[in-house]
Amino acid sequence: NKPITLPELGRMKREGEKIAMLTCYDASFAALEDRCGVDVMLVGDSLGNVIQGKTSTLPVTMEHMVYHTACVAALPSRPMLVADMPFGAYHESKEQAIRNAGKLLAAGAEMVKLEGGEVMAETVHFLVERGVPVCAHIGLTPQSVHALGGYRVQGRGEEGAARMKREALALEQAGAAMMVLEMVPAQLASEITQLLKVCATIGIGAGKECDGQVLVLHDMLGVYPGKKGRFVKDFMAEAQSIDGAVQAYVRAVKDGSFPGPEHCY
Ligand code: KIV
Ligand code: NA
Repeated sequence: NKPITLPELGRMKREGEKIAMLTCYDASFAALEDRCGVDVMLVGDSLGNVIQGKTSTLPVTMEHMVYHTACVAALPSRPMLVADMPFGAYHESKEQAIRNAGKLLAAGAEMVKLEGGEVMAETVHFLVERGVPVCAHIGLTPQSVHALGGYRVQGRGEEGAARMKREALALEQAGAAMMVLEMVPAQLASEITQLLKVCATIGIGAGKECDGQVLVLHDMLGVYPGKKGRFVKDFMAEAQSIDGAVQAYVRAVKDGSFPGPEHCY
């Protein structure tokens, strides 16, 4: 089982092989996700919610992200390891962004993820040019929850859709290798996926036409006590074990049966 590399992700997009991504925060689940066939593990700043019990991702620090990234990276594994840049760690300048990206790479990340559209294109370009693979994240960007007025669907209406397409193109142009689309109408996410020629789209609440899917581990295992989005499916409900639930998720992403229409906008 060869490790998933950047060219391999590109091949998967080109050949229409769905990318199964799942969040991961520790070494035990990294081993589990590896053996269950997950392609990309994301050390998400959702750890603020599911590990720390906070109501947003805003209190998550670089120290937290480095700690959990090192936990996930402790053992060599097949999945690509992506780590989130937390709020405030890349907003000051592109120099600040590469300094902090370097800390995540040193902890074992192979790609960093940051939130934002055209405003982040310059930063994405700066990182990519210097050898740091970047995953972009548009649509509902949880670090901007207060500016967005809550956790709600983005890209509604003609103008909203046109703006999101411009953002997606700017980020691909800047060199982003992957792009999370969160809480985006399925039709718009499908159009963006067609528009992007090399950057793989990863949907969460963005329909089944994306190049891949991501969920928060604690959501898809039904262990997160908080409110969960319409786009979440509890794969533990019909599984006999945690391995079984994660295998069912990977299978459902690969064969296109997840997300279903009931998970979409
Ligand atoms: O932090 C996270 O888990 C994420 C995914 C939901 C995309 O950003
Ligand atoms: Na995140």
